[in-house]
Amino acid sequence: MATALVIGATGYAGRHLVAELHDRGHSVRALVRDRARAERAGPWGAPGLAGLVDEWAVGDVTHPRFTRDVAAGVEVVVSALGVTRQKADPWAVDNLANLAVLHSARTHGARSFTYLNVFGGDRCPAQLTRAKTAFAQTLAASDITAQIINPTGYFSDLMELVTMARRGIVPLFRPGVRINPIHGADLATFTVDRMKHDGTGTWDVGGPQILRWDELARTAFEAVGRRPRTVRIPPAALPPVQRLTSLISPRLADLVLFATWGMTHDGVAPRTGLRRLADFYAENASR
Ligand SMILES: NC(=O)c1ccc[n+]([C@@H]2O[C@H](COP(=O)([O-])OP(=O)(O)OC[C@H]3O[C@@H](n4cnc5c(N)ncnc54)[C@H](OP(=O)(O)O)[C@@H]3O)[C@@H](O)[C@H]2O)c1
Repeated sequence: MATALVIGATGYAGRHLVAELHDRGHSVRALVRDRARAERAGPWGAPGLAGLVDEWAVGDVTHPRFTRDVAAGVEVVVSALGVTRQKADPWAVDNLANLAVLHSARTHGARSFTYLNVFGGDRCPAQLTRAKTAFAQTLAASDITAQIINPTGYFSDLMELVTMARRGIVPLFRPGVRINPIHGADLATFTVDRMKHDGTGTWDVGGPQILRWDELARTAFEAVGRRPRTVRIPPAALPPVQRLTSLISPRLADLVLFATWGMTHDGVAPRTGLRRLADFYAENASR
């Protein structure tokens, strides 16, 4: 079985990828910043990596000396690397650091590079998605077998609705907008299947249930045992809020733009997996 390098291995998606690759008999090299944290279970039921990893590459992926030879001796690379809640410049991580690892993979003769991008990212105006789209374009044009997976929202990100439901109110911008969010384990199965059976390509993917945002909110309220209470915010109110936020924190404003773009545009991709959001909420709402 091929040796796989997983970058972003401590994230929600990365942890499920490591577990899936290990379960299928791959030898796994995990790139992490903190091994002790990596070995403990992650948030929202994401597995701890103790016993799943054969080699650790511990360091910061924005340091060129660390990434230069990180792919030496591996056959396949999969990237779940990205800036979500981290205080970092998305261009430095989502674009430049992925490029550095791609360079290492090509230099050392890796067979393929699989990248978790984001569904609809090429249409979203946030800096975050621009950085990701630019990397995906470079990867697609490179001479390595390039596999680009575009998932919809992860169940982990939708825990934010549970937090809001617990506080008593959920804001909705366009309640009828639909999404089919995906569990990390279903995404990992889909991704490793592509790595195993397919060559170069791009795949959009989401979970098994298509839900409207008002249904998502209702599911979150049910999980915390509260009566649903939502407030409609006109999407026209968003640009002024973003402009104001950018005066205080451009990074936060970009995160708000990314998140609210997802709440105001349909995000329905071809379906995979069996795991349902209500079960995920039930398992995790009390943690
Ligand atoms: N969340 C979603 O709903 C969603 C939907 C579609 C696509 N995606 C994409 O899927 C990927 C994974 O998302 P996720 O939700 O699993 O993200 P996540 O939980 O925040 O994981 C991000 C990973 O990147 C690592 N990382 C960030 N900066 C680093 C650095 N300088 N050096 C080394 N490692 C670094 C993090 O390490 P630390 O743990 O040390 O911070 C973590 O392992 C991202 O590219 C994201 O854009 C996410």
